[in-house]
Amino acid sequence: MAYSATLIPGDGIGPEVVDAAVRVIEATGVAFDWDRQEAGMGAFEDTGDPLPQATLDSIERTRLAFKGPLTTPVGTGFRSINVRIRQHFDLYANVRPCETLPNTHGPFEGVDLVLYRENTEGLYAGIEYFDERNQIADSINRITRTGSERIIRYAFEDALRRGRTRLTLVHKANILKETGGMFLAIGREIAPDFPDIEFDDRIIDNMAMQLVIHPGEYDSIVTTNMFGDILSDLMSGLVGGLGVTGSANIGADCAVFEAVHGSAPDIAGQGVANPTAVIRSGEMMLKYLGEDAAAEAVRRALHDVYADPSKLTRDLGGTATTAEFGDALADRVRAHVAA
Ligand code: NAI
Ligand code: MG
Repeated sequence: MAYSATLIPGDGIGPEVVDAAVRVIEATGVAFDWDRQEAGMGAFEDTGDPLPQATLDSIERTRLAFKGPLTTPVGTGFRSINVRIRQHFDLYANVRPCETLPNTHGPFEGVDLVLYRENTEGLYAGIEYFDERNQIADSINRITRTGSERIIRYAFEDALRRGRTRLTLVHKANILKETGGMFLAIGREIAPDFPDIEFDDRIIDNMAMQLVIHPGEYDSIVTTNMFGDILSDLMSGLVGGLGVTGSANIGADCAVFEAVHGSAPDIAGQGVANPTAVIRSGEMMLKYLGEDAAAEAVRRALHDVYADPSKLTRDLGGTATTAEFGDALADRVRAHVAA
């Protein structure tokens, strides 16, 4: 049986890294029936619509997507397609693990964190107003009880599944008394349901400082949308940069897997992007589907290839192209699957 999945190569480095990742995923022997669809700036230029109906229909049918990054115009133009996809399919949990791989030259050894980011509301709800006459701009930071309960509960449950022991809720409830205050209060209400997970909280600015000084003191983190967006890039920086961290957008019966990073226009088309981030999202997708052995083969293969620094891509000081790295990894995946 093959899993039906929507495949969105995306913009910038997207097609390069997704192509390498698909070869790695297929090397596990798990079969996918990919439905290739467009979204993002490329789709906008081709069809006038950055999120064509055919793409939405495809995800509606497959309930599973593997995607590259999509370019969003800054300041003007269409709203982020990533945010629209997350809201449309109600993918409320954005899971972003951060694990040190060998030879990544991050500032720390042995970082192993998981961030759970609320993915549908907060400052990304898209409720913005501009008062032209008085030149006043407003964004509504919408936090709901339902939205907070489900992400915090998901974080506790997933932390347990991963054998983790601590969950830190990150907020700004000292200043944002209503929004941050409710999010924190709900965390404290839910925590007693999970006695095996130690629960505490930190204020966002302090947390940013703590993570760059001693990330080893933290384990799992749950937070609202924008804080999670920023902290997850910071956490990527702890383990070698945006080239290595994957992410999953999870809803009740639909999931979209993608890298943490964007379309990297500065290096697009050069064949030098690191496909590890999107490959790690592929590993999360295999796990989500219950293909644990295949996911484990990808994880082990990554550790094998990372053992030789010359096999890595330019961002990590190596000389391999995106395709060479992907092929070396696919070979190691096949070796682990055959073993
Ligand atoms: P970015 O993540 O694309 O790039 C930031 C820096 O990291 C750049 O120097 C880039 O070269 C480097 N980088 C990123 N991925 C890399 C990889 N796989 N290998 C090696 N180096 C890598 O962030 P930026 O420049 O702020 O955003 C570019 C565009 O991407 C924007 O239009 C933004 O809206 C979009 N974006 C899309 C996301 C998505 O589709 N999920 C997420 C984040 C940004
Ligand atoms: Mg981001």
